[in-house]
Amino acid sequence: MTVFEAKESVVRSYCRSFPVTFNRAKGSFLYSESGNQYIDFLAGAGSLNYGHNNDAIKQKIKDYIDSDNIIHGLDLHTSAKAEFIQTFDELILKPRDLQYKLQFCGPTGTNAVEAAIKIARKTTGRRNVFAFMGAYHGMTLGALALTGNKYHRDPSFPVSDTTFMPYPHGFMKSFDTLAYMEAVLSDPSSGVDLPAAVIVETVQAEGGVVVAPVEWLQGLRKLCDKFGIYLIIDDIQVGCYRSGDFFSFERANIKPDMVVLSKSLGGYGLPVSLLCLTEELDKNWLPGEHNGTFRGNQLAFVAATAALKFADDNNLSSLVKSNERLIAEYIDTQISVLNPQLAVRGIGMIWALDCSAFAEETTSAILNICFANGLIVERAGRNDTAIKIMPPLTTESSVLMQGLDILRDAIKVVIGE
Ligand SMILES: Cc1ncc(COP(=O)(O)O)c(C=O)c1O
Repeated sequence: MTVFEAKESVVRSYCRSFPVTFNRAKGSFLYSESGNQYIDFLAGAGSLNYGHNNDAIKQKIKDYIDSDNIIHGLDLHTSAKAEFIQTFDELILKPRDLQYKLQFCGPTGTNAVEAAIKIARKTTGRRNVFAFMGAYHGMTLGALALTGNKYHRDPSFPVSDTTFMPYPHGFMKSFDTLAYMEAVLSDPSSGVDLPAAVIVETVQAEGGVVVAPVEWLQGLRKLCDKFGIYLIIDDIQVGCYRSGDFFSFERANIKPDMVVLSKSLGGYGLPVSLLCLTEELDKNWLPGEHNGTFRGNQLAFVAATAALKFADDNNLSSLVKSNERLIAEYIDTQISVLNPQLAVRGIGMIWALDCSAFAEETTSAILNICFANGLIVERAGRNDTAIKIMPPLTTESSVLMQGLDILRDAIKVVIGE
């Protein structure tokens, strides 16, 4: 029995799919203690867009530590935070004509979601929030209330004040979900309270990589404007260039009232969580009203600043867009042909191979073969029926192809015709 099995809580999860002990990582590779190399198509669930131990970022962290600069600073003014704010404003907000105030939250994504719904509720005096079927917004109770998956919602957990609306997916695709929402909001007898906010992922990542159409996102923005509802985009997993642009909503040319970011914002896998919000909303907070000891991890600020510069210097956006074409073409020519019942969805460098037409154990069988052959790839979606391809954005094309080859060969074994 390993020390993990003996002592770590049974709540552990990813480690169950990849039962080795890792002790090294570089770029798009992870290494186990026994010296095995694995291509990483999981990327820390979207936290390692710039690769493991990225040299450009690592050097900045080392220099910062060597200078005995502030490591823990509560929300005090620090030079690391100042540099991050200036860089984020110069490289991300200003070029997109976005004028957000920046609220640093407790270290994980779910805390920024909590902050966003709290300030929307406080500002409007309304408790209800619209979330979407298939959504994943985090595990703290406020964010869990917005998360659809029953697996995480034990009936004893107090999750409330959310109305789940249909996302344009599955059989809902043939149904005008925006018209439905408008009807619900307009009908004085719908029984649904006007929400303070609508929270949406433009690509439902944990939901199985479901990409919302551009026109749908634009329609949602208009609907929110019409009814005076704040629009929150959860870009925690698909922000930071994952979809091609820094923000995933850029493709729809819309401006949300709030955006939540975390995961790869920390650049090096370090925890940081950010709520971007309009000044109109921000002015309704009282100092410290959404508090937390670890608001603003200084090393994460240093890494985040370096990561933004790295992405800018290396034109990461166009790299992702060219990798998107490579992945799409590979799947089309090498994987989809293996079985016509395999469904494919994706954008940028997040893709899903949806095996819901096959037996329940299909994805775990494919994953196990991949792992045995040196590829780490995870599942997502309803009943874990989709294989989620999410390599670091910096993955070299030869490594990308190598990983896809392993995946293709595993799919051929399990469901090839
Ligand atoms: C879209 C989205 N929102 C929120 C979260 C929660 O972030 P965290 O796990 O850092 O709390 C996640 C995590 O997977 C996510 O994918």
